[in-house]
Amino acid sequence: MLEVRNLEVVYDDVMLVLRGVSLRVPPGSIVALLGANGAGKTTLLRALSGLLDVHDGEITKGGVTLEGEPIHRLRPAQIVRRGVSQVMEGRRILAELTVEENLKVGGHTAGTSHLDRVYGLFPLLRERRKSVSGYLSGGEQQMLAVGRALMAGPKYLLLDEPSLGLAPSLVGQVRDLIVEINRQGTTVLLVEQNATMALSIASHGYVMETGKIVMDKPARELLADEDIKEFYLGAVRSFREVKHYKRRKRWLS
Ligand SMILES: Nc1ncnc2c1ncn2[C@@H]1O[C@H](COP(=O)(O)OP(=O)(O)OP(=O)(O)O)[C@@H](O)[C@H]1O
Ligand SMILES: [Mg+2]
Repeated sequence: MLEVRNLEVVYDDVMLVLRGVSLRVPPGSIVALLGANGAGKTTLLRALSGLLDVHDGEITKGGVTLEGEPIHRLRPAQIVRRGVSQVMEGRRILAELTVEENLKVGGHTAGTSHLDRVYGLFPLLRERRKSVSGYLSGGEQQMLAVGRALMAGPKYLLLDEPSLGLAPSLVGQVRDLIVEINRQGTTVLLVEQNATMALSIASHGYVMETGKIVMDKPARELLADEDIKEFYLGAVRSFREVKHYKRRKRWLS
């Protein structure tokens, strides 16, 4: 179990970005984390992978445990070694290196032992293994970023908006890949703005708004929730506004 308890995160010593966030990712599951821009989703992933430091962020309360062991004071490399890998937002690959070189960088202490698994999942990366990564298409770079994280053989994979900017046909492929990665034994925490896609494959979902978890429910309940639907169709900006708007509508009718 990867577990966040009562987490508070501050950037630059002043800006309180996460307030009392608690979340559980049970082994074997896919858990969805939803929320509007700026809600704090990426910040939460950084707290899990140890990358807050790099961004002048700090945990001021609460903590993160992995199979019961506190990990929030560990360095990113130590967290990767314990089995937690993050795929960062916006596909941060090393553009000048080839596909295979990028994958090898992701191997850490695991070396190249997971290369076959990655090429099995992404045959296209095998075909393009000698290509310079910067010339890959956006979707291909996204695959490479996921493949690179898998090279460390993580038990827990943290994905930050893997479908962002992809054509609808590719979003379906990304969804199928996440399901397959999970079927092969990797637990997934999936941050997505594409709520329908995320909830269609997750067992549980969390919704964040301005640094807080405002909903915590089985995915199928969230999928059936009219407020969530309206919110993610972009009709109304904030989840709280949706609630307010609905109350007013009821009141007026
Ligand atoms: N390095 C940083 N220094 C200061 N503030 C930051 C930093 N990174 C993020 N923030 C702020 O923290 C808040 C949460 O940002 P975060 O990136 O976690 O949101 P998000 O939910 O991932 O949003 P998006 O959907 O746009 O990726 C925002 O107000 C953002 O401006
Ligand atoms: Mg983000």
